[in-house]
Amino acid sequence: MANGQRELWGSRAGFILAATGSAVGLGNIWKFPFMAGMSGGAAFVLVYLVCVALIGFPVMLLEFALGRRTRKDPVGAYRAVDRTGLFWVAGAIGVIAGFVILSFYSVVAGWCLGYVFKALNGTFASFTDSGAAAEHFGAFAANPTPAIGFHAVFMLLCIVIVSSGVKCGIERAAKFLMPALLVILLVLVFRGLTLPGAGEGVAFLFSADLAKIDGWTTLKALGHAFFTLSLGMGAMITYGSYLPERTNLLSAALLIAFLDTLVALLAGLAIFTAVFAFGLAPDGGPGLIFNVLPVVFSQMPGGVFFGFLFFVLLSIAALTSGISLLEVVTAYFVDERGWARRRAALGFGVIIFLVGLPCALSVGGPLTTEIFGRSFFDAADYLSFTVLLPLGGLLITLFTLTVWGVGDFIAELKKGSDVSLSIPGMRLLLVVVAVLVLITFWAGFAGKL
Ligand code: TRP
Repeated sequence: MANGQRELWGSRAGFILAATGSAVGLGNIWKFPFMAGMSGGAAFVLVYLVCVALIGFPVMLLEFALGRRTRKDPVGAYRAVDRTGLFWVAGAIGVIAGFVILSFYSVVAGWCLGYVFKALNGTFASFTDSGAAAEHFGAFAANPTPAIGFHAVFMLLCIVIVSSGVKCGIERAAKFLMPALLVILLVLVFRGLTLPGAGEGVAFLFSADLAKIDGWTTLKALGHAFFTLSLGMGAMITYGSYLPERTNLLSAALLIAFLDTLVALLAGLAIFTAVFAFGLAPDGGPGLIFNVLPVVFSQMPGGVFFGFLFFVLLSIAALTSGISLLEVVTAYFVDERGWARRRAALGFGVIIFLVGLPCALSVGGPLTTEIFGRSFFDAADYLSFTVLLPLGGLLITLFTLTVWGVGDFIAELKKGSDVSLSIPGMRLLLVVVAVLVLITFWAGFAGKL
């Protein structure tokens, strides 16, 4: 599609909601609370906040700037300003990462959708302890019919929204879903804070035990900063490519990173106040949401209603992220291969659904084949978060430092704003980012993350 015809976001607010929708996902509501819960609460939160500010924010700016400068999907974006002819590989890694992440993201999103119905029909009422809830979840995830069925429903929703286009699909969905998400979250935080004994949960999340900050906590927080801001695979390059020149990238990225962090903290607050109020353990790991929270809802006054709201919240968060993942793959086939948007979204949505099937079947399910000692699900998770995302973040930083040019990056940032940014200062910041990302990346390879 020629530059002049490229579809753009309808408004700045629409873009911010869509990009926040991409950032706010299962990472904020499912992963952040359990990671904080296992790594000593506030200590983890503190390191995570530093990582978002120091690494996440600059990388987000890089992605937006490269996207808007080139007006292309990730592969085309690198190609457009690359003299070396090598960096398209970085874009390709992004497209592949989008593919892999969505295939198992959709499986987890499917569980959330399934739990919306479970909350409504009162399934949680019989859970008196987390053993019963965990057993129920295990059986649910292991049963191919709901696991595959809800995975299919989720992919179908993503396909419908992405095929409808940037403005009429993605932006319109975000304008409706994101405010709904915020309202639901505030209701749940209010419910949590008004429970007797909620103070303990608040203290857990906000009082830092600095002794708990070690290298290990730092590495996990760094990896999570990438994931939660949707960085390292070109999602924000793609979203940036639909931006008009007048948009101030600095303030937009600041707002998106702020909102993403706010949602993670509020979700943590809603969850831990309730978990502590009912005397349950905060370190439940990945199963915290499915194994522990249903017990909370079975005992809380109005638990059916609040449980329903909670899983709707998770499903909305997952949906606006899922569409950004599918959009990266779709944009590649539209921009580079000249496909019609509908065909690309439908075709690849279906393929991603099929690729997700082994994941759907491998969590306690019939598929027990292992890849490098991990289940399909864990292998997809590991490959994307410890390898592909940090690699993508590292590559865009190195690319800017060596090929695209820090001066050109700053020139793009200045288009919508009149801040003065110094080239040496920015270069130093990017070098720091690259070094920190490199450390995460190595730790990931060492099997540590
Ligand atoms: N940020 C989302 C979350 O927190 C997940 C996500 C969506 C993502 N798009 C992405 C992660 C692109 C990395 C890259 O759940």
